[in-house]
Amino acid sequence: MKRKSICAGMAFVAFFQLNSCLNKPEKNISDDIMKVYVQDPHSYARPNEAAIEHLKLDIKVDFENKKVSGICDLSYIKSAKAKSIVLDTKSLNIHEITYSDGTVANYQLHEEDPILGAALEITLPHDNQNIRIVYESSNRAEALQWLSPQQTAGKKYPFLFTQSQAILARSWIPLQDSPGVRFTYEARVQVPTGMMALMSAENPQNIQNDGVYHFEMPQPIPSYLMCLAVGNIDFAPVGSRTGVYAEPSVLDEAHEEFNEMDEMLAIAEKLYDEYRWGRYDLLVLPPSFPFGGMENPRITFATPTILAGDKSLVSLVAHELAHSWSGNLVTNATWNDFWLNEGFTVYFEHRIMEALKGKEYADMLSALSLQGLREEVAAFIKSGKSEDTKLKLDLAGRNPDDGVTAIAYDKGYYFLRYLESYVGREKFDDFLKDYFDKFAFKTNYTEAFIPYVQRELFEKNGLEPIPDLKEWIYDTGLPKTLPAVHSTRFAKVDEAVSAWKKGQYQINTSDWSSHEWVYFITQLPEERSSGDLEKLDNMFHFTRSGNAEILGVWFVLVAQNLYEPAFPAMKQFLIHTGRRKFLMPIYTALLKTQKGQALAKEIYAQARPNYHFVAVNSLDVLLR
Ligand code: BES
Ligand code: ZN
Repeated sequence: MKRKSICAGMAFVAFFQLNSCLNKPEKNISDDIMKVYVQDPHSYARPNEAAIEHLKLDIKVDFENKKVSGICDLSYIKSAKAKSIVLDTKSLNIHEITYSDGTVANYQLHEEDPILGAALEITLPHDNQNIRIVYESSNRAEALQWLSPQQTAGKKYPFLFTQSQAILARSWIPLQDSPGVRFTYEARVQVPTGMMALMSAENPQNIQNDGVYHFEMPQPIPSYLMCLAVGNIDFAPVGSRTGVYAEPSVLDEAHEEFNEMDEMLAIAEKLYDEYRWGRYDLLVLPPSFPFGGMENPRITFATPTILAGDKSLVSLVAHELAHSWSGNLVTNATWNDFWLNEGFTVYFEHRIMEALKGKEYADMLSALSLQGLREEVAAFIKSGKSEDTKLKLDLAGRNPDDGVTAIAYDKGYYFLRYLESYVGREKFDDFLKDYFDKFAFKTNYTEAFIPYVQRELFEKNGLEPIPDLKEWIYDTGLPKTLPAVHSTRFAKVDEAVSAWKKGQYQINTSDWSSHEWVYFITQLPEERSSGDLEKLDNMFHFTRSGNAEILGVWFVLVAQNLYEPAFPAMKQFLIHTGRRKFLMPIYTALLKTQKGQALAKEIYAQARPNYHFVAVNSLDVLLR
């Protein structure tokens, strides 16, 4: 309803030029009402000529040969003059392409680029027809990670999961792999018996005896949100709209850890209106999952490293849930506008956590965010990459993964906090609510966002625009108007750190959460004597911590200072955990010394087969 009235209003045209008013358009529509897409440097697709609208997938998951194979039916919308449709592929084997009348299509699979893959250009017949592609993935499919039973918790069944963001969907489905192109989908997936299949769609809650699963995703999504997980997975409901999936031996623990999910969902809706995706479930993956979380619609994928036993790391769930608005509902048009996804999501995540656990808690998250931001900016500038400290990125010719930094997340977050502080929270919330509604199921990009903010946030409220709006977005480094944060809980940690440095070891840590511990460890001087680390470890048992965030920062200290007693545990952690955020800093710290280098290489040789491609891709640069 709301969407129609927006599309009808011509006043919005300038800001909505990207957006489709056409859910189920007529075939061969005239060019003047064809949706206008921003040029995406990371896709070969030419959606301004022909854009996919619906995907029907019929695939078989073959664990023995580690491949996904089957049929991909695509319906599309095209301009009258389009002669072909271009899809993205990467390392796919294309067997046959036909039109819906059964005739064989002419197509060309262009040369493969190491980052972008290969354009698949299919000649279109005069009348619109569906395209049917018979294909299979190869053993180089970068989105897919095939786990042996040994790499799972249950050790009996293999496991498969996908990671499509940013541009890896093309390695398991031929499609227009650009965040600006949205489509609905349905799928039939055949898996070995005894296993469950889950997708970013309406999901089963029980294992099907015949191993055949049917999925439907009625809301249009961009390709990077396509996902599939197959394993011996069980389900436990949390609330009426939420639940947890995990391997049976992990399920109870996961269910306990995430039992605030329904509450989080209610908080999110109270902030920025209706959750538009039906259910919100979460799947706990085996530890090789390369990220903390991935916001696949209806089914967030999460690392088991957030199972801390005390709910201390659930802000990650808040983050992925927030993406149901920022990112999944309103999507960055290209990866150069990634901050529109992540900056908004961090802001929203912190608001959820503030409502759930109070302001002092949220202030700790903000302080850690600022610390990470300052460190990352300093590191970029030091290494001569100050261009990468701009919110608006230019990632053409590069892997969009290069944009996954604290800039998009934390500079983006602080920019929104600055806007909030300027207009006041109430007005800012109204603005955001309206933003999510107006751009729902659409894309946005930086150049459209600027005039939108000027009009909808400032003019509407009778305020002068902030003078440094463009500086925030287009300049390097950190602006002078970077908001300050004060964390009362961290102030106490600061006192403890200075006491510790003076040799006063009796510090009161009884009410510390893992955030305080992480902050404490990162505030200690980088270079410590081995004796010092021993004292820390004897008092606080970091090496034996069950909290991955604490281990993550502790092992950096261990690696930097070659604190040998913790080596076995660190090695275990590096081999077992595939989360890139932990791996990169620890390996980097090891590489700083000669002895560490040898150890890093030895561990990496053993661990590499356990890691997902996206982790390997980053680590190879460091270690090979
Ligand atoms: N969508 C991201 C993960 C991602 C980004 C994957 C870019 C591939 C390319 C997800 O929402 C995310 O930000 N995850 C964070 C968690 C977080 C709480 C900041 C992570 O994995 O650490
Ligand atoms: Zn995110």
